[in-house]
Amino acid sequence: MTLRIGVVTAGGDCPGLNAVIRGIVRTANSCYDATVVGFHDGWNGLVNNLRLQLYDNERIDKILNQGGTILGTGRMNTGDLEAQLDSVKETLADNEIDAVIPIGGDGTLRGARWLMENGINVVGVPKTIDNDVANTDYTFGFDTAVSIATDAIDRLHTTAESHQRIMLVEVMGRNAGWIALHAGMAGGAHMVVIPEVPFDVNYIEKVMERRFQMGESYGICVVAEGAMPKEGTMDVRSGGIDEFGHKIYTGVAQQLGDELKNRTGRDVRTTVLGHIQRGGTPTAFDRVLGTRFGVNAVHAVANGDFGKVVALHGDKIELITLDEAVGHTKLVPPERYAEMEALFG
Ligand code: F6P
Repeated sequence: MTLRIGVVTAGGDCPGLNAVIRGIVRTANSCYDATVVGFHDGWNGLVNNLRLQLYDNERIDKILNQGGTILGTGRMNTGDLEAQLDSVKETLADNEIDAVIPIGGDGTLRGARWLMENGINVVGVPKTIDNDVANTDYTFGFDTAVSIATDAIDRLHTTAESHQRIMLVEVMGRNAGWIALHAGMAGGAHMVVIPEVPFDVNYIEKVMERRFQMGESYGICVVAEGAMPKEGTMDVRSGGIDEFGHKIYTGVAQQLGDELKNRTGRDVRTTVLGHIQRGGTPTAFDRVLGTRFGVNAVHAVANGDFGKVVALHGDKIELITLDEAVGHTKLVPPERYAEMEALFG
């Protein structure tokens, strides 16, 4: 009997997902003569048997450089998924699936762990542009997001300078400020604000004002969407929590910009990059990492290494446990932020 592998992409999309899918299909076919069945729209595809057999053909070959995911994606909260165990099992039996490769972030990998606990063979692939999955050096999508944000910052330098403005750029990063840190450093920002380090508006004002006093004519501050002020320094509106337990953001960069404008009387503008960071073609780095994750996930399935997640350690792809992957959020360590702090102003 040939091996049959199910694939699901769940959670927010991410440049490089199609590279993973292509890596899975090509490896499954060429190394194991296995069949790959994709399920549409995240967990919903497994619950409702929304299948699409993936053949190793020209079409699959051409998705390497495409953004998004050919399978579509979606979010389903843990409770709703857990209520559907019977439907998931029926779908897997109907398609004679031996193992599932769920590709996703923390929530998806938690779902993968739940499948495993319920007797379904699983090998996870970590995914997020935020780069905050534990115990992997990088996730694909992050490099693309950083490139896009860096390009935006490069462009903001010239317009900010022409108008003598303070420019704030809000980038993604819920709990971890990796995109802000890397794009801020690569883009020569004068200040970077991340969720790990509550910001002090007095300090930001001082750093920006010092630039003008030194004869510079503008300032750029990169702000991660999940950044929060130090208690008692500034109020930021609360947006509550959505149905998936995620904080709803109310535009921290805009609010910080308004506060800086009030305090300094200077011309201040805010740019929110939003989903532009997640769209479009992946960088070469993300195509390579995604492909390697896909190739190695199939090898893990064929070797019976279930309950594992592929991870990048240095230059090697290694297997970690699902517990290690969902254990905690990989935050920016203080010493990495300190390197950026040395460049403030
Ligand atoms: O987790 C990745 C991420 O890109 C976050 O940085 C961002 O807050 C979130 O997804 C937005 O997701 P969506 O708007 O698609 O729900």
